Amino acid sequence: MAAAAELGVGLIGAGTVGAEVADRLLTWAPALRRRAGAGLELRRVAVRDLGKTRPRVPPELLTADPHQVIDDPGIDIVVELAGGEEPARSWLERAIRARKHVVTANKVVMAAHGPELLELAGEMDVDVYFEAAVGGGIPLISTFKVDLAANQLERVTAIINGTTNYMLCRMAADGSTFAQVLADAQREGFAEADPTADVDGHDAAAKLAIMASIAFGARVHPRAVYCEGIRAVQPVDFRYARELGYAIKLMASAERTPRGVEARVHPCMVPLSHPLAVVDGVHNAVFIEGDLVGEVLLQGLGAGARPTTSAVIGDLIDLARSIQRQVRNRAPFTFDDIAVVPMDEVTTRAYFRCRVADRPGVLAQIFTVFGEEQVSISSAIQKEVFEGEASAEFVVTTHPAPDAALRRTRQRIAALEPVRAVSSFIRVL
Ligand SMILES: NC(=O)c1ccc[n+]([C@@H]2O[C@H](COP(=O)([O-])OP(=O)(O)OC[C@H]3O[C@@H](n4cnc5c(N)ncnc54)[C@H](OP(=O)(O)O)[C@@H]3O)[C@@H](O)[C@H]2O)c1
Repeated sequence: MAAAAELGVGLIGAGTVGAEVADRLLTWAPALRRRAGAGLELRRVAVRDLGKTRPRVPPELLTADPHQVIDDPGIDIVVELAGGEEPARSWLERAIRARKHVVTANKVVMAAHGPELLELAGEMDVDVYFEAAVGGGIPLISTFKVDLAANQLERVTAIINGTTNYMLCRMAADGSTFAQVLADAQREGFAEADPTADVDGHDAAAKLAIMASIAFGARVHPRAVYCEGIRAVQPVDFRYARELGYAIKLMASAERTPRGVEARVHPCMVPLSHPLAVVDGVHNAVFIEGDLVGEVLLQGLGAGARPTTSAVIGDLIDLARSIQRQVRNRAPFTFDDIAVVPMDEVTTRAYFRCRVADRPGVLAQIFTVFGEEQVSISSAIQKEVFEGEASAEFVVTTHPAPDAALRRTRQRIAALEPVRAVSSFIRVL
């Protein structure tokens, strides 16, 4: 593509993020031109419903047909801000095949199809930018792609879903139940009417798949990420966690090991001394460990129209600079076929909370199971006695063991006659 003083930008989607992006492009045009080295002219905007009132988008730019954006010869960069897997993936593919550069905030598409789209873009000699797909306004993809490119990255540990972090912080602060904080979060606009993607960990798994793919140069599909949400975490667990010196967070972590990439999302007890233990409310934070740089912590707002627009417009500026210099793929992505280690084989630690009959010999039975599964105990405390029911609550934390052995231990303990329930099973960082 020839160097241009004006670059045509087309948007697909003018909802929460798209309307803010349109507004920034229109109201900040002179500053953006100076920073990008070229004008970023908004030329077309596709939406689903032309009847909606859209004060921030000039009506003459609107169309209900995304193909009119993609196929418009005056558009150099297609910005996809509609969301969902299809037809968004097809639009991106069509735009790339038409040799348009693309910018997207779509984590669903980038998690499931990112490597193919990036490879296709390589063949077509165009770029795909997706900073906004992970961590909203936090500069993550460019950090992995450019700033930490000299490193062998060892591990990425992240709080990458603001909704669940907000909910867990509330449960820790006031002892509310999962159902209570979910209802509050929905009322306050921090959780969707259908909260499944957030509370069951799928949103975090998609973002982790993207981060792990870029950080380790491996194809990590979201289906390969072990995923457990926060529904089972109970208020009493926060009290015990605090006593033991931990916070409870929904942790997304990926690690490069000699056997492949480990990638998992689950509730996790995080030592209070760890930087991620104090990440509050809807904030996201990503803790990166590299062989040269050591530890890096990036923190900020992981969602919202303005932080996400910061990432989208940042991508547009970077892309415009590359186009001006007639270079592409400033940092090429390469993906090796590195295996994803099954969760059974991942070494973790765990916290068990059990309700047991309050009579002699019960603990010996439980400890026998731990011994037979070769899971060694780090601490064991009897926490509370329930007089009327003649039962007691018993909390165990373990040393590292294969996750399969920890889960087998949990099942075998739950099946013991004097055990009323294994009420909680939470991994420990
Ligand atoms: N919201 C955030 O805080 C945030 C943060 C990070 C990333 N993201 C990502 O950004 C993307 C957009 O999110 P959002 O919150 O802005 O979504 P949104 O408010 O639901 O907006 C979606 C937009 O896409 C349009 N659209 C949907 N299907 C379409 C179709 N078939 N043809 C034409 N237009 C279509 C909608 O049109 P109508 O207006 O006519 O309905 C709407 O303008 C998603 O991939 C999301 O995951 C969002």
